[in-house]
Amino acid sequence: MKVSVVAQSAREVPADLLALPVFQLPEKGWKLPTGAAALDRALSGALSAAIAAGDFRGKRGQTHLAYGGGKVSARRVLLIGLGEEGKLDGEALRRAAGQAVRSAAKRSAKRVAVLAPRTRRIQPPDVAQALAEGAVLGAYTFTRYRTEKSDPPAKSCALLFEDAKARTAAREGVRRGVTIADSQNVARDLSNEPGGDLPPTALAREAAKVAREVGLRCRALGVPELKKKKMGGILAVGAGSSRPPRLIIMEHGRKAKSGRGRPTVCLVGKGITFDSGGISIKPSAAMDEMKHDMSGAAAVVGAMRAVALLDLPLHVVGIIPAAENLPSSTAYRPGDVVRTSSGKTIEILNTDAEGRVVLSDALHFGRTEYKPAAMIDLATLTGAAVIALGSWASGALGNDDALVERVKEAGESSGERVWQLPLWEEHREAIRSRIADIKNTGGREGGTITAAAFLSHFTEGTPWVHLDIAATAWTSKTTPCQPAGATGVGVRLLVEFLRNFRSR
Ligand code: BES
Ligand code: MN
Ligand code: ZN
Repeated sequence: MKVSVVAQSAREVPADLLALPVFQLPEKGWKLPTGAAALDRALSGALSAAIAAGDFRGKRGQTHLAYGGGKVSARRVLLIGLGEEGKLDGEALRRAAGQAVRSAAKRSAKRVAVLAPRTRRIQPPDVAQALAEGAVLGAYTFTRYRTEKSDPPAKSCALLFEDAKARTAAREGVRRGVTIADSQNVARDLSNEPGGDLPPTALAREAAKVAREVGLRCRALGVPELKKKKMGGILAVGAGSSRPPRLIIMEHGRKAKSGRGRPTVCLVGKGITFDSGGISIKPSAAMDEMKHDMSGAAAVVGAMRAVALLDLPLHVVGIIPAAENLPSSTAYRPGDVVRTSSGKTIEILNTDAEGRVVLSDALHFGRTEYKPAAMIDLATLTGAAVIALGSWASGALGNDDALVERVKEAGESSGERVWQLPLWEEHREAIRSRIADIKNTGGREGGTITAAAFLSHFTEGTPWVHLDIAATAWTSKTTPCQPAGATGVGVRLLVEFLRNFRSR
């Protein structure tokens, strides 16, 4: 999808589908925005007639399709409702652009144009960024495994900005939006890939490929190195599969020599390439979805790609513990005690609580190797997060409320919302083991929190936020910017967080 900013008017822009996002119109005395009004006149009032008939009011998500009929350069004209201007946010703009692109694809329309709404609520570069993101995300399809090709997505999307000064600023926003959304689509591709075709070594190869393309350093620790570093958590979870685990490390920028300069941030992503549950095997219903259990890793790869392309003035390290959780005669078992690289021991009560076990080594590695100013991990960690928050928000927990707050703000502006859950000393007590330091399950009560309490043992002294993306990493519903399947959640959130990051 090629997104550009053009100077043409709505009447003269050549397009197979021209979208006009319109704020909610009052019952009486409504007036179309300038560009749309000129178009309406050229169409002999076809748009205003639809509004007068009550078919279109500009409600959020509402659409009305009209045809150019040779009177204007666009073949089709699609009115899209943005809802009330007073409630406009980036998400409404992303959705509108996504709707334009999807409705174009349905009609095999190749060239899309969108008239950027004029508003004081959001600055032109941010309007452009959101529209570009929506167009690129809305055009996403995962068709690698289809031999019969379905409708190809739209090819291009021209954004119309009427004001010359806004246009220049908008180009910067488009560049950012396209970079971020393309990176989110990279994360979606990784997460959608079947587990059978994406073992830990393949995930490492894909990360290396992305790194090469955008100029990141990248390496992967194999089993001998994991043994040398005593990463017993990653090794235990990976032991049941003939396809060995990896610890993948991607790096942008360098550690500041003195106290000043680029602060270091570590991004850690759970990379279970398939989670059968292991010996504590899962029921077969929906087990196929566990190919997505590396969505945290996918988000980290996607975010690192964007960080490199945007050349953020930070030292950012992506860390991915990758393993396949399978039952076999070599698998780790309930009752085993695992010794992690931090020295802490874990009593395994359930081999299906494997995410926290691989993260123990990855978090310890990030904390000790890089001494980051902040560390954020993303993990499809608990079914309990699906129950607690549903797909409306990712769960956020941490040891630094100010940092959680900054992640929350990034969630609001990126449209990838997070909601904080408490993390208290009492929760840490709930995972104390009788025979080891901690146990890997705390029972059903507060499952998302006790999982985070487990992780907190490996982040002591480092400002840290854990994001449980179990409910947000994939979806069965298709929405304007999101076909069913992997969402690539976390990429927009992380990039927004990092763009605003200053260490304190
Ligand atoms: N990957 C799963 C969590 C999950 C479940 C994500 C459903 C998305 C949808 C994780 O490894 C897991 O199995 N967690 C267990 C932990 C329990 C055994 C303490 C869970 O949540 O049931
Ligand atoms: Mn599991
Ligand atoms: Zn899992």
